[in-house]
Amino acid sequence: MRVAVIGTGYVGLVAGACFADSGNSVVCMDIDPKKVEMLKRGEIPIYEPGLEDLVKRGNREGRLSFTTSFDEAVPSAEIIFLAVGTPPLPDGSPNTKYLESAAREIGRSLEKAPASESKIIVNKSTVPIGSHRVVAEWISAETSRPFEVVSNPEFLKEGSAVDDFFKPDRVVIGTENLEAFKKMADLYAPFVRQGNPIIHMDTVSAEITKYACNAFLATRITFMNELSRLCEATGGDIEEVRKGMATDIRIGKHFLYAGLGYGGSCFPKDVKALISTGDRYETPLEIVAAVDAANTKQKLRLIEAMTRYYGGALSGRTFAMWGLAFKPNTDDLREAPALEMVNALIEAGASVRVFDPVAMPNAKKYFREKLGSRLTSVHFSTSSYDAVADADAMILATEWNEFRHPDWKQVHLAMKHPLIFDGRNIFDPDKLTALGFKYFGIGRGKHAVT
Ligand SMILES: NC(=O)c1ccc[n+]([C@@H]2O[C@H](COP(=O)([O-])OP(=O)(O)OC[C@H]3O[C@@H](n4cnc5c(N)ncnc54)[C@H](O)[C@@H]3O)[C@@H](O)[C@H]2O)c1
Repeated sequence: MRVAVIGTGYVGLVAGACFADSGNSVVCMDIDPKKVEMLKRGEIPIYEPGLEDLVKRGNREGRLSFTTSFDEAVPSAEIIFLAVGTPPLPDGSPNTKYLESAAREIGRSLEKAPASESKIIVNKSTVPIGSHRVVAEWISAETSRPFEVVSNPEFLKEGSAVDDFFKPDRVVIGTENLEAFKKMADLYAPFVRQGNPIIHMDTVSAEITKYACNAFLATRITFMNELSRLCEATGGDIEEVRKGMATDIRIGKHFLYAGLGYGGSCFPKDVKALISTGDRYETPLEIVAAVDAANTKQKLRLIEAMTRYYGGALSGRTFAMWGLAFKPNTDDLREAPALEMVNALIEAGASVRVFDPVAMPNAKKYFREKLGSRLTSVHFSTSSYDAVADADAMILATEWNEFRHPDWKQVHLAMKHPLIFDGRNIFDPDKLTALGFKYFGIGRGKHAVT
């Protein structure tokens, strides 16, 4: 099939590369000329395991190309995916200006398509409920050519995006048009050979499903974070509680880890968007609103604990921070709890030695813009061991695999004080205590900061 993808970010690039890999002819379009030039050279602007090989193969075999021109992507495509960003506005509702601009450009380019061919326009971006109608209006304002707008929300996870796209738990296709559904199901058939379902539903339900999934997962995480506070107050250990819960098959084991709160480009923004949609339809979503508020507090919970531990005196201290990305296997810093913690520490007069296995270039850019003259309070370390040099304490902010089993003797020797604040509960408190460290985790009973 001939496919166009508009917006070549995390979602668009992964989708485009995976569709090309299954034999389709794919043109990925983006308004960012630097990104497109990089991709044409076979360079990948984001860190995503497996993606580089896929893009290079698609490029080499002529099935995947990149452009900044709508006219090179749209007129010849049978299916056109919209995968532009929908970041939050200050009131939490999604900013649809990129969506509108892309939809109108698609409309204008459709004028150059064969008059008889009806196109499928796919909302793959996470869009406000009812957007299929609005997108159709924007396109119709620019063209009278036939098209159908379909909702096909994306559920991939950064860090395992290629795997998730090739083996989705399910594919959701929202459309009232049976022909459009059949064509979309055909496009996705290579990815569901093991029998995972392609679920056909009405367009509005598909749009709601995306928000429902993210808000529900965010709720699970937040529930555990809340319980971890109760553990700290009562002497329980959230890790034991988690095991007891996760083995109940009605509950399951995923997204039950207490920590520093959720971040990333999706959960925070989608939770806020769902709340604002509820308000717009005069259906307040009270659980979701509570999740959002609790998560905002959670991101600074460890810093509050540290402030208590040091009797308020963080100024003049040096802290090591292991991990900056909002989760492992990605260089994405959007809404990462680590960034807020670094900012709070610097605000309190401390300095921070940061290290992340892949997010350092993005971190340098972020802190340069954010901190200005206070940038001297951040040391960009070359390794996790460099980060702990002469540190008063180490904060584990992202659970990268390589942090799980460090050479603790080397860490101990390097630190000024052998003190660990484990924001993701990945270390064994008894082991670290036996090695001479003082250990604090999140909700870890006797190892909690009181
Ligand atoms: N990142 C994820 O894990 C994920 C997962 C599921 C769904 N989503 C949703 O998918 C959408 C895209 O997310 P992302 O993380 O890929 O965003 P992103 O910011 O990484 O990429 C968006 C891209 O769109 C481009 N763009 C903006 N306006 C454009 C226009 N008018 N025409 C062409 N290109 C344009 C930008 O230059 C950018 O490259 C969002 O709605 C997001 O909520 C993201």
